[in-house]
Amino acid sequence: MKMSGNTILITGGASGIGLAFAERFLERGNQVIIVGRREEKLREVKDRFPNIHTKVCDVSKQDERISLFEWATKEFPQINVLVNNAGIQQRVNLLNPQENWDYYRNEISINVDGPIHLTMLFTPHLQKQAQAAILNVTSGLAVMTGVWVPVYSATKAALHSFTTSLRHQLAETNIEVIEILPPAVNTDLGGAGLHTFGAPLTDFADTIFAELEKGEIEIGYGGTKERLHATREEIMQGIKGAWQNFLKNNPGFRS
Ligand SMILES: NC(=O)c1ccc[n+]([C@@H]2O[C@H](COP(=O)([O-])OP(=O)(O)OC[C@H]3O[C@@H](n4cnc5c(N)ncnc54)[C@H](OP(=O)(O)O)[C@@H]3O)[C@@H](O)[C@H]2O)c1
Repeated sequence: MKMSGNTILITGGASGIGLAFAERFLERGNQVIIVGRREEKLREVKDRFPNIHTKVCDVSKQDERISLFEWATKEFPQINVLVNNAGIQQRVNLLNPQENWDYYRNEISINVDGPIHLTMLFTPHLQKQAQAAILNVTSGLAVMTGVWVPVYSATKAALHSFTTSLRHQLAETNIEVIEILPPAVNTDLGGAGLHTFGAPLTDFADTIFAELEKGEIEIGYGGTKERLHATREEIMQGIKGAWQNFLKNNPGFRS
């Protein structure tokens, strides 16, 4: 994708991977709009980067997605890049689900309804621009299921599948479709402290940007892209090994 002179909307841009991407896009001379639920997090980022634009929106809610689209395209008619990054991750013991369905449904609404509906809303607008891109942040777990996060893994597999269809359907248009498949990265995903074992955020984001600059459209880190080419046997072994490892490190998961 073109790396400067864009107007870019990033969902979940006030923390973690979304913020790291926002900072790098700003450095390269882009206009950046970040979106999230927590106004105070957006304000903190705005204090650090006065040029950034912010908008409160819960992407799990259909009416808020429509309002976001209407606001963004009115205020920034030149908007040409959508980054679907907002996401949550919940550990779920399927032998003993404790919450009501709304709790589980919310993860699906944020991780699947959000990016798919926003893509459908923005695509006609992006088609009017000279050059445009849609970046979907999925996960290595889209390919190699994380058994301890079963709903999350299913949502990321769904978004991976949707992204593939989108790329084919938009192949003859001006819109590039890019998928980013992070491995575990040290952010607050799932709650503070749950991903401290992950890759350093700075190195991850710098590597992703180097790949974007090269024009890559399926971008991983630390082997997550290679998973797309793994055999079924390698994937099944990987899933089993990671699950055993998780149980060893989290003995309380099943209690
Ligand atoms: N970190 C990892 O290990 C890892 C691995 C693979 C994939 N990913 C993916 O990377 C993306 C970014 O995650 P992260 O690691 O950077 O975690 P993070 O720091 O928790 O960031 C998630 C962001 O999404 C926003 N968000 C969550 N629900 C939202 C909603 N309903 N509406 C609007 N914004 C919402 C959050 O802001 P508010 O809470 O203020 O709304 C937050 O800024 C996610 O899609 C995640 O699945 C992360």
